[in-house]
Amino acid sequence: MGGEGTTTQGGAVPTPEELERLAAAAESAIAAVADRAGWESLRVEWAGARQGRLRDLQALIRLAPDKRAFGQAFNQLKSRVEAALARRDEELADGERAARLAAAREDVTLPGRRPATGSLHPVTHVARQIEEIFRGLGYSVAEGPEVEDDRTNFALLNFPDDHPARDAQDTLMLADGRLLRTHTSPVQIRTMLARQPPIRVICPGRVFRNDNDLRHSPMFHQVEGLCVAEGITVGDLKGTLLAFVQRLFAADTRIRLRPSFFPFTEPSCEVDISCQLCGGSGCPTCSLTGWMEILGAGMVDPRVLANCGIDPDRYSGFAFGLGLDRVAMNNWGIPNIRSLFESDERLLRQVRG
Ligand code: PHE
Repeated sequence: MGGEGTTTQGGAVPTPEELERLAAAAESAIAAVADRAGWESLRVEWAGARQGRLRDLQALIRLAPDKRAFGQAFNQLKSRVEAALARRDEELADGERAARLAAAREDVTLPGRRPATGSLHPVTHVARQIEEIFRGLGYSVAEGPEVEDDRTNFALLNFPDDHPARDAQDTLMLADGRLLRTHTSPVQIRTMLARQPPIRVICPGRVFRNDNDLRHSPMFHQVEGLCVAEGITVGDLKGTLLAFVQRLFAADTRIRLRPSFFPFTEPSCEVDISCQLCGGSGCPTCSLTGWMEILGAGMVDPRVLANCGIDPDRYSGFAFGLGLDRVAMNNWGIPNIRSLFESDERLLRQVRG
């Protein structure tokens, strides 16, 4: 230790008066520090655990001429520096807390932010309404594949080999000979192949035809229905359809059956409902006829029943089909069918509720 006296770091041992001036200078430097980083560097400079000015000064006591006076002045210095650091620390913490609160301040008078809510697509909405009505009439919902074969989509439904619908002109064919179903009637075929009457099903789903204009899209939606049991007559068909349209549309809606033709029903009809706009007196929407065409229907052709392994001498049935997109377009006054499939949020907002 012999060398210490001559090689003291920082030069000569400060006098008590110098220590006192040092304390005053440290106090004002600490009090003037502007932020946390400045405070931290002064803390390290003075009170750092490994090397700090207080530590260094304390080591000089051994060399002081008057150890008692030096010790007292040093202790003063030490507690003044520590107190100054603690005081400034608290002041800075106060400022930091105030800044945090200011940043987090909410304007409680602002209106709340509403969560964005979705809504049902018009076609989904109509499909659910129709499913609900037929569930109430004892029907269940059946679904099937969108890719079908000729047999299920056409042959078993009694379409002759040269029927125009079997042409690629009207039907979207796949390279392997299968096709995109042109109606949901194949789901009725699948149902009849799978089980015996009594059968009451509705078959909602997407269907595809090689068709494209304002009122037709190559993909659209249908619901078809099938009822097969003993003793089913045209009266059951008419009663069921009347009950259905009076629930889906206005309660005083009337229906009219016009003779028509489908390969799979005999007799067949088109079903009109009294115009929902004018009530039947005639307006531009119904082309002044008072009627709107919405359904195809008929008594299931006995050959179709036989094709599916159901005895036509014992059972009879009716079937019907309607386009969901048409109903949605009528209900919401949508002129172009493509608006339904463009995913424009404005359309959904308009039909909400
Ligand atoms: N399958 C027919 C179509 O898509 C609709 C229909 C179903 C007609 C049942 C009569 C009976 O056009």
